[in-house]
Order: sequence, then structure tokens, then C-alpha cells
Amino acid sequence: MTGPDPTGNKAEAFEAEDDLPRNPNLTQTLGHVIAARHAQAASQPTRRGLLQGLLGVSVIQGLLGSSALAQTAAIRPAAARQPSRFAFDELPWGNDAHHHVPAGYRADILLRWGDPITAGAPDFDVTNQSAKAQLQQFGYNNDYIGFTPLNAEASRGLLCVNHEYTNEEMMFPGLGRQDRAGFSGMTRDLVEIEMAAHGGTVVEISRRHDGSGGWQVQRDSPLNRRITPLDTAMTLDGPAVGHPRLQTPEDPSGRSVIGTLNNCAGGMTPWGTWLMAEENFHGYFCSDRRDATGAPDLSDQPEARQMARYGIPGGWYAWGQYFDRFNIDKSPNEANRFGWVVEVDPRDPLSTPVKHTALGRFSHEGAETCLSAEGHLVIYMGDDARFEYLYKYVSHDTLSDPISQDPAAHRHLLQDGTLYVARFDADASLTWLPLTHGTGPLTAQNGFASQADVLIDARLAADALGATPMDRPEDAQPRGDGVAYVMLTNNSRRNADQVDAANPRAKSRFGHIIEITEQAGDHAATRGTWEILVQCGDPKIAEVGALWHPTISDSGWFAAPDNCTFDAEGRLWVATDQGGRWSKTGKSDGLYALETEGDRRGEARLFFRCPVGAELCGPCFTPGGDSLFLAVQHPGTDGTKALKGFERASTFDDPATRWPDFDPQMPPRPSVVVITKLGGGKIASSPDAATTQ
Ligand code: FEO
Ligand code: CA
Repeated sequence: MTGPDPTGNKAEAFEAEDDLPRNPNLTQTLGHVIAARHAQAASQPTRRGLLQGLLGVSVIQGLLGSSALAQTAAIRPAAARQPSRFAFDELPWGNDAHHHVPAGYRADILLRWGDPITAGAPDFDVTNQSAKAQLQQFGYNNDYIGFTPLNAEASRGLLCVNHEYTNEEMMFPGLGRQDRAGFSGMTRDLVEIEMAAHGGTVVEISRRHDGSGGWQVQRDSPLNRRITPLDTAMTLDGPAVGHPRLQTPEDPSGRSVIGTLNNCAGGMTPWGTWLMAEENFHGYFCSDRRDATGAPDLSDQPEARQMARYGIPGGWYAWGQYFDRFNIDKSPNEANRFGWVVEVDPRDPLSTPVKHTALGRFSHEGAETCLSAEGHLVIYMGDDARFEYLYKYVSHDTLSDPISQDPAAHRHLLQDGTLYVARFDADASLTWLPLTHGTGPLTAQNGFASQADVLIDARLAADALGATPMDRPEDAQPRGDGVAYVMLTNNSRRNADQVDAANPRAKSRFGHIIEITEQAGDHAATRGTWEILVQCGDPKIAEVGALWHPTISDSGWFAAPDNCTFDAEGRLWVATDQGGRWSKTGKSDGLYALETEGDRRGEARLFFRCPVGAELCGPCFTPGGDSLFLAVQHPGTDGTKALKGFERASTFDDPATRWPDFDPQMPPRPSVVVITKLGGGKIASSPDAATTQ
């Protein structure tokens, strides 16, 4: 969810809200002091990236200042020699209302907002919506996609899809932007439809038997279900369960909660359960109390300090007008019950989702998993807001071998473990700092009376430990061999005096990607190294400070890396979300193949292009690598006003300028798109890895 243009749509308002840094620790943290000491002590970098000329540049910048950049550019390789690992003809960049794939591929819409996902569900009718219908239909703004096979051939499987948020102006004809209208048009019925459109969907899909290689939805599958903040009961577990700070009038036990919301990215566990990350939860809470400036008045709140650190109340939705639990004046602890990672067993439609407090409370972008060398479960998690942190969870126990088919047998791996936060030092070292009560500053004296406090207030605990404030950590994807990639999407609020080696650009509007290498290749290690893989943006504009492989094409460079995935061959794919600023690059969002190895490292190529105004999420390959599921979120919103012939904020606006081929019954809708190769075969793969470069 991004879109920093304050003149844009709901997503953009969210971004404007996200734009407000809430981390007060931006000057001299312990981490900064230590980093500075390390920088002074560091010798010249000798890492692989420096030897190759492209990498380690940020480290040099951190040590020597930006004047070193020109020197490093001179030792870049003149041209790539090895063939690309990705075999496809690159798409040209551009903007229009359609999906685009390279020649030889097809893109089919598999699911759209409102599509029935149960046998008895009504067909989508944008003019006749109801919460009851929406609870049986595919939700709004699809983000994370997970796939878990149901047979050995993976020709049947379950898609697990997050529905992050809703755009009233795109859902309800004639309503317009409600956050700008004081929610004047919102009713309880509309709020309930919104709530029913959030959460997630489990849906069975199967291969078509028509030779197309495509997929179809099994509407009659008993495994299909919706998960929503309206009606899905969940439990809490882990160190904070039952804590008084999780108790509310509706749940005095502090052990159960209705629903999940703002589910952005996520992950799948090695045993096939689905992790839904709760991201911008603060936006759903409101308060009726105002101070003299008109801002929410937290002076009577016992947890005012914690609420302010988390941006509560955000006031993005009208939910608190109809549901007291989303009004912090009436239910102040309810916000402590969101911001977690939720585990769902997609194979059991009657299973109760579980919020795992051991993984900490923050704006979880995702929860991508892997196993350590010894078999510990490791989960990498970004806290997607400006100047927030990168986290990693390591289970106490190891995964059973063989892996039990019963998810309950593995639940302890998500209940008992250590949550770490990352410190990136200028000497290219990485230190994982444990958020463990009683260690270092995490004591009662500093406001942490127990491990429950440390986890509920994970941001405050990370502040105290001196973690490195990052440029909005989005997806963090481990490869399983001790290497992980962290998408840092942008941070226009970082000033020149706040630049550090790991976040080397002030006012970074284009983002960068960091590669982590854990010590001894072990994802559970508490030490490692890091380097910048690419600095995004247009490499032709010197002021942008972009760093790519020198062979990057006009279509290949991108901005705002957000979600990412590896395919079966261990190749990295990156999806972008520029938000309302896509017009600053002139390019619609898309999916890029990014080289991480060899002498093409740092070269990207465009593989899929979104319709204008959409962001791209959820890249997910089938295990065999022959199908790719993509989540096209909010087409027709972000920045579309900037596109000539498309100057409006909503698909329901002026008939003269609305979406090409507009059908009132079928407005552009968030959708899951499946990419397959004509004639079959693995995507972008060939024995000789041919290239068009
Ligand atoms: Fe929901 Fe960080 O994007
Ligand atoms: Ca995202």
C-alpha cells in the first residue's frame, strides 16, 4: 500500500499518513554511535561487490562520502559477458489500461474483486453489494499470494490471498473519497461491506484440461473460505497472550479477537500454513477527542506514548463510528490486538486462525520463512514505515523431520523463539539484536515490565536497542542459503544529516535493495554482512544516484521495490509499487527479473506491466516454475490523473474520461493474474539462458 501523492486517492492518503515518521530515534541512537565507531575503525572495503565495481558502493559512500561514487563508477565492468539467467524478450515500459507480458506468454485473469468463490455465492453486481454477498466473494485489493499444492503434480492447489484494504471511491459508485469527506457518505452497511472485503481468501484452483496450461477456480471446493475482520474469530498465543494490555470489554480474557486487517504481504510455512501480515493497523482506529489543533487528544490515554509511536489513531476509516472496538476512547486496548502475524491452516476451512505474539507487533509488511542450517524456523519481517526497522524471528526448537502433516504439531515454532531487530553498520557488518526482556535496556526501569511489553511495544524496544532506521522495509525474502534480500521502497523524509551507509540517499524517492549474507550461510546467525544490490531510479539522471549494472535498459530500471520472490531456480523477481508518484518515473508498475549473480549482477528487465494506477503484489510461482500468479492491486487509482486522457480519481467519474472500455457492471477491479508460457514450460527459463540484450 503506497501512493505518496497527496492529491491522489485513498492509497495516497495512506501514504501521506505513512509519510509521518514516528520514530523519534533519528539522531544519535546507540546504533549510530557504534556505527560511527565502526566506520572510523574500518579499513578499505574488500567485499566482492567492491571487487566487481558495482557493489559496495554504498559502503564506500558511507565511509568516504558521495565524492567516492565517481571513482567506483570507473571500475564498473564495461559490459556483461555471461548470458542472462532469464530468457525472455523484455517488455517496453509504458502506461495504458492493460496487462502486458513478453512475446510467447499469456496473462489470464483468474480472480477479481467480487468473483464468487463458493457454490452458492451471488455473482458480482457493483450496484447491489452487501456484506453477506462479499463474505462469499473474492475480497478487495489482493496483495500477498501463496500457493500450496493439493497433489503431487501440483495440478490442484490452494491459493491463499491477502486483501489489504479498500478504496470506497472505486468500490461504491458515486460515493467519492470518504476520508476527504469526513466519511459523510458512509453507512453501517457500507462499513460492513468494507470489512467483508478485507482479510483473505482461500480458494482451490486446478489446471484447465484444454491444453492452455491455464488455471480455473473450483467454486464448489469445500476448502474455499473468506477470512475477514467482520466475522472471523481468531485466537492469540505466545508470550503476550492473556496480558491485561490485550484485554477488552468484548474479550476480558485477552485471548481471542475478531478478525485481521490490512493484510499486506505474508508467507507460507514449511508445513503449508499461511502467514498473513497485519500492516497499517493504526489507520483503522479513531478517537472523538481532539486537542486545540484538531489532532487526536491522547492526554487521557494511559498508553499515549505507545499509541503515538504507532500512529494510533490513524482515522482512515469510518469503522469506529459503528464498531466501538475501533474507537480508542471506548476500547483503548483493541489496537494492541492488531499488528501481528496471523497463521491460517488453509487445508482446514474450520480451523481458527492464530495471531502469534512472539513475532512482535508492528506494521508487518510480510513474513517470509526459511529454515536455518540446524532446522530452526526463521522469518524475515519488514516494518513498512519510514525510519522503521527490519526484524527476524528464530524459533527455539527445530522443525521435526519428517515434517508432520498436522499444523498443530509445529505451532510451538511460532510460539517460542527469539525476535531480533537489525543494525546495519557502515563497515558492512550486520548485527541482529535480540528483543528479549531483561537483556540490555529492555527492563522494567525502561518501561518493559515483561516480554509481553517488549513484543506489544516492539518498535519502542527496537528503539532502545539502537536498531537502524531504514527507508521503509517492505518484503524481506530469504533464499535459504544464508542470503536474503530486503526491499527498501523509498523515504522522501530522510534528510541529508540522517543518511547512513545502509540508507545512503537523502530524500530517497526511488528506493534500494539490500543483500544480506548471514554468517556461515546460517539464517539463524546473529551476525552477518550486507551490501546494496541496486539503488533504484533512472540511471541517466546523475542527481538520482541510481546504481545498476551498466547494461540496464530504459525499460529495465525501476523504482519503489515492494514485493519479491524467488523462483524454483533461485532467481529474484521484484514487484514495484510507486504509489501516486509513478508519474515521476513515467512508468506503470510491474514485475522485474533482477540478476543477483555473476557479471550481470544488478541488471533488471521488465517482464510484466500493470494497468495504469495499479501496484503489483504477490508474485508467486508454482513449485515447477511454469505458472506465475500476480496480484494487480487498485487499477485506476494511483497517479492516474497524471496520464493524459485519464485525468480523474475514480473509474466512476466523468464518463468522457473514464477507463477505456468502461462497463458500469464491470469497472476495473483488483485481480489475480496468472502468467503462463505459450506451449508450456518454465517461465523465463531455457537450457542456454538465451538473452535479448
Ligand atoms: Fe502494504 Fe508495505 O505495502
Ligand atoms: Ca507491499
